[in-house]
Amino acid sequence: MQLIPPPLSLYVHLPWCVRKCPYCDFNSHQARGPLPFEAYVDALLADLDHDLPLAWGRTVHSVFFGGGTPSLFPAAAIDRFLQGASARLRFAPGLEITLETNPGTAEHGRFEDYLAAGVNRISFGIQSFDDGCLQRLGRIHDAARAEGAVKLAQDAGYDNLNLDLMYALPGQSLAMAAHDVERALALAPAHISHYQLTLEPNTMFALRPPEGIPDEDLAWDMQEHCQALLADAGYAQYEVSAYARPGRQCAHNLNYWRYGDYLGIGAGAHGKLSLGAEQAILRRWKVRHPTAWLAAAGTENAIGGDERVAVAQRPFEFMLNALRLVDGFALADFEVRCGLRAAAIDAPLAQAVERGWLTLDGGRVLPTALGRRFGNDVIALFLADGPAMGSGRSAPGM
Ligand SMILES: C[S@@+](CC[C@H](N)C(=O)[O-])C[C@H]1O[C@@H](n2cnc3c(N)ncnc32)[C@H](O)[C@@H]1O
Ligand code: SF4
Repeated sequence: MQLIPPPLSLYVHLPWCVRKCPYCDFNSHQARGPLPFEAYVDALLADLDHDLPLAWGRTVHSVFFGGGTPSLFPAAAIDRFLQGASARLRFAPGLEITLETNPGTAEHGRFEDYLAAGVNRISFGIQSFDDGCLQRLGRIHDAARAEGAVKLAQDAGYDNLNLDLMYALPGQSLAMAAHDVERALALAPAHISHYQLTLEPNTMFALRPPEGIPDEDLAWDMQEHCQALLADAGYAQYEVSAYARPGRQCAHNLNYWRYGDYLGIGAGAHGKLSLGAEQAILRRWKVRHPTAWLAAAGTENAIGGDERVAVAQRPFEFMLNALRLVDGFALADFEVRCGLRAAAIDAPLAQAVERGWLTLDGGRVLPTALGRRFGNDVIALFLADGPAMGSGRSAPGM
């Protein structure tokens, strides 16, 4: 079976924040002094030039500026990058271009300029509308500032907004989690991401866990209750943590979950590229530290690593992404994106169906409600050497 390159996206990592949040394990660094915006944009374009042979002639279907806090970058720098990138790669007409924004960095006039630069979707890191929760999360904004930032973007003409919320926060009750969702809904965004707070290794929260973190059962109740609130308001869940109004799913993230391709440029960025001629899937990542990456961008020294995904590993990687989606995947897509016949996964598929975790509908494979709850166990069936022995109850939300 031929591996056929899927749609291509472009991820751009902007690694600085005003302050490091104690729960965050992203490649983000507290800004100390003025940031080298111009040098960073030059380096991004050099990094892109270096990766271009991997994506020669292909069309880009979405761009995502992630972080870190991309909204620390002035619109002029984002504009210069987009002009340079679109001169190097073909941009699909009307492609989605998202910029992550911390509400604490939103200023009057900024959104008009981002819009003029071509950014047509803003993703806000709101996390909560409860000032106590925001403080315990070490956020630089309060609820009023968050609401004000969203309204500034709407006044500037943005109608494609995402709000990130987290739940299972220290000291949070079910009613408080529901109230956060209600306040988000009152702002009528196109999309809401609703993440369960996780204690990531190597974060301040992992080192000294805060008091009052809801247990797994309460977290599950929060998830179910908020999901119902969102559904009632017309936001359908389409992925473990993602809810959207009709037609407003995030094209960029959907491409990841459908095992699409992406170039990853900037400090610590990861890329995944299907190489048709070689029939290989390449994973490439960049040096993490901004200073080291800046010094090396555009050369081999900026590459943190290159890895070809072993053929036997592809089904697991594919499932890790595709089974996050409520409407699962088409077996035909599995075949062309993994370069494997569907028969290669007959045995684990049959097991998952027998356990009530997956269903088959025509040529599609869909996770059941049970399968979504035990996501890690379902995915483990597709490991190259089968599931590890004794895998217990997995955390909800894969
Ligand atoms: C890279 S952050 C980008 C947003 C921006 N940096 C901000 O925080 O305002 C993406 C989102 O991931 C979520 N997130 C970050 N750390 C998390 C954690 N430990 N557990 C759950 N969600 C997390 C937050 O909702 C955050 O807005
Ligand atoms: S602002 Fe966002 S990226 Fe930066 S430290 Fe906080 S959660 Fe992480």
